Amino acid sequence: MRIAVVGTGYVGLVSGVCLAHLGHQVICVDNMAERVEAVNGGVPPFHEPGLSELLSAGLGEGRLRATTNLAAAVAASEVILIAVGTPSAGGRIDLGAVEAAAREIGQGLRESPEYKVVTVKSTVVPGTTDTLVRGLLEQAAGKPAGAFGLCMNPEFLREGAAVRDFLEPDRIVIGQWDAASGTQLARIYESFDCPKIFTGLRNAEFTKYASNALLATLISFSNEMAGLCEATPGTDIAEVLAALELDRRWSPVVGGVRVHPEILAYLRAGCGFGGSCLPKDVAALCGFARERGARARLLETVLEVNALRPAAMVAQIEQALGGLQDCRIAILGVSFKPGTDDLRESPAVAIMRLLAGAGAEIRAYDPVVQSLDGVVPAILTHSLEAALSGADAAVAITPWPEIVAADWGALAPRMRRRVIVDARNALDAAALPAGIRYVGIGRGPGPRREDELGKPESAGD
Ligand code: UGA
Repeated sequence: MRIAVVGTGYVGLVSGVCLAHLGHQVICVDNMAERVEAVNGGVPPFHEPGLSELLSAGLGEGRLRATTNLAAAVAASEVILIAVGTPSAGGRIDLGAVEAAAREIGQGLRESPEYKVVTVKSTVVPGTTDTLVRGLLEQAAGKPAGAFGLCMNPEFLREGAAVRDFLEPDRIVIGQWDAASGTQLARIYESFDCPKIFTGLRNAEFTKYASNALLATLISFSNEMAGLCEATPGTDIAEVLAALELDRRWSPVVGGVRVHPEILAYLRAGCGFGGSCLPKDVAALCGFARERGARARLLETVLEVNALRPAAMVAQIEQALGGLQDCRIAILGVSFKPGTDDLRESPAVAIMRLLAGAGAEIRAYDPVVQSLDGVVPAILTHSLEAALSGADAAVAITPWPEIVAADWGALAPRMRRRVIVDARNALDAAALPAGIRYVGIGRGPGPRREDELGKPESAGD
């Protein structure tokens, strides 16, 4: 099919590149000329595994190109995907870019006799597509929805696994204004053998928020439990959650083998969630509820618990060092999670800001992040060794494989003081060489009886 994708951010560019890979004819549109140039030159504007290869292939095979000319892209397409950003502004969702796109697309619809389906892929609060977007399109097009198609098709891809998530979807949710809209949109996904859910526009919008809100809630739940453990001598959140997970309702036994679903990865204590989606979407849902005279009390608390995590981490570091002034801290991993160079709402950035404010000197290392200029006053080094040299403490934040598997036997001697704070409980504490002070998340104060007795063999599966 002929598809225009408006917006070359994560969702837009990954969708465009993958749809071209599936054999469609795709035009990516962005109003930033340098971004368009980069895309046409085969250079993705962000780090995403597998994207660069598919982008080059799409360009090379003539199925993909980028432009700043939205009107021409609309004229050439049967399906137009709106995938522009919807940032958070003071707890409310900023729909400026969606509005601008809808107006311009509407103009294009006015000029074309062809039936086209406009599809919102950006994350928007329930009611946005059938009121605001529809209104703008109808006004600019001079014809009612129905004369053109209108859909809301949320995207569930994760940064760092975006290409795979797009090409191997769990389900495709198609919110449709009418059956004709949904039928035409579904044609772009014809080759996918996964459940396709045709529903109302508002259900589609809500599904995206409910999905991200649940992930955020699991993380804050785990962190709240961790905080309680930290106040309870003799407890350890890692052991508590490991036992909790063995409930068959979380990890079913199928054909005699226990299955550990990926969702369990969100049931871990750490330094909080970040990224461009979970914090923004939960805040938008809270704001949406308030505007309707309702309250999303649980989700407000999910955000509050999350906001406290960086300070809780810094308190642990300070306690381990007996003060932060003039201490040199090695921050290991600064992107909000492995597999991406995205620093948006990264807990590592929040932790570094607090540490710098308390007078610590920061040397950070991340396998893909290239610069911290203007973000936080820290020196970004190019290796674990450089970050750790002369450090008073190492704080392992983003669990990149290289950081989780670091050889502490070789690295620890470079440090001034051998203190490791494991902000995601991702390191194998038992495998650390002697002489290292290890501080994990969610462990009660004081010695634990099982440490004194020695750990019994566990019969885990
Ligand atoms: C999230 C959702 O997972 C996607 O389904 C959704 O499409 C996307 O938002 C979006 O709205 O566009 P993403 O922001 O890429 O994707 O990040 P996740 O992998 O879900 O991670 C979010 C936060 O949870 C991060 O801070 C991460 O460190 C944390 N997390 C993630 C964990 O604590 N444990 C995990 O196993 C995974």
